[in-house]
Amino acid sequence: MTENLQPNLQQHTADFQFHDFAPKSEDLSQAIQSGWSEKPKNISPKFFYDQRGSQLFDKICQLDEYYVTRTEIMLLEKHANEIAKNIGDNSCLIEMGSGSSKKIRLILEALRPALYMPIDISREHLIESASLLAKDYSWLKINAVCLDYSEQWNLPDETPRLNRAAFFPGSSIGNFHPLQASQLLQQMSQALGKGGKIIIGVDLKKPEKQLNAAYNDKNGITAEFNKNLLHRINRELFCDINPDSFSHNAFYSHSHNRIEMHLVSNQQQVISIQGIDYHFDKGESIHTECSYKYSASDFQQLAVNSGLTPLKCWIDNEAKFSIHLLEY
Ligand SMILES: C[S@@+](CC[C@H](N)C(=O)[O-])C[C@H]1O[C@@H](n2cnc3c(N)ncnc32)[C@H](O)[C@@H]1O
Repeated sequence: MTENLQPNLQQHTADFQFHDFAPKSEDLSQAIQSGWSEKPKNISPKFFYDQRGSQLFDKICQLDEYYVTRTEIMLLEKHANEIAKNIGDNSCLIEMGSGSSKKIRLILEALRPALYMPIDISREHLIESASLLAKDYSWLKINAVCLDYSEQWNLPDETPRLNRAAFFPGSSIGNFHPLQASQLLQQMSQALGKGGKIIIGVDLKKPEKQLNAAYNDKNGITAEFNKNLLHRINRELFCDINPDSFSHNAFYSHSHNRIEMHLVSNQQQVISIQGIDYHFDKGESIHTECSYKYSASDFQQLAVNSGLTPLKCWIDNEAKFSIHLLEY
């Protein structure tokens, strides 16, 4: 660490800075207090992602059933040069929800950005992934930022006003209700400025059987990921929830065009968290994630309604996944 830096800024190596706006544990207890008082009980999927959650998500990406990652990687490999050409030289490339920063590697050589800014809520995993990237790409300048992009956020003040572009893979936009997705696209646009480009991966509508399989893998990794929420509550808020007293349930809802993920209580129980009792009937669930599915044209319409111009859309031959290039 270098002296004279702001408290939330760490200089890891000459070309790797880390800006820390990580949410506090109180955010988790507040989210439980408000979401578990509603019917049905709910909580944002952002709380899956502590270090263990990020590791489990990486395992999900390797599952046979989880076509999302493989298909997006295939599209990125195929179109890296075209994507780079559309972003242009001397760019500041901001990645939203960068996770393990693996997909960015597929376009880095073609793009050679002046600055790469991975943004993620999962602090330790972000530092680890950005450090690995810094080691593998010695020419790359990295400013990693830990923040929650579902709240009001700004880029660090010193972010250069270069040719800014955002990369938002993994269909993470699908975790937001379409109205909130539109708000997030608008917030990203503001951060990029006029002329800024967004490269965004969006999962497509498809037969229910394929979708249900992707979120109910036979090895139970997605179930473990879902239950990590309960483990995290135990770890961070010093509780003793029995994770086995809940079951993973994920299904496609046609009326909402979304996968819903739930934790269903296997029994009637009372869970005590920081002095507050939460009552569960047998079969009662906590709604933990939505993953909205779009047609390419529906998503383009959402982008237009958010003030963006769709420039290009790449789709695989089996029409499983789409990558959109949008301009503000
Ligand atoms: C579905 S994973 C995608 C990871 C990676 N981009 C990929 O495509 O494989 C979502 C990522 O976004 C991060 N994330 C989730 N909610 C977030 C939030 N509200 N703010 C910042 N990052 C968030 C998670 O930590 C995780 O790395």
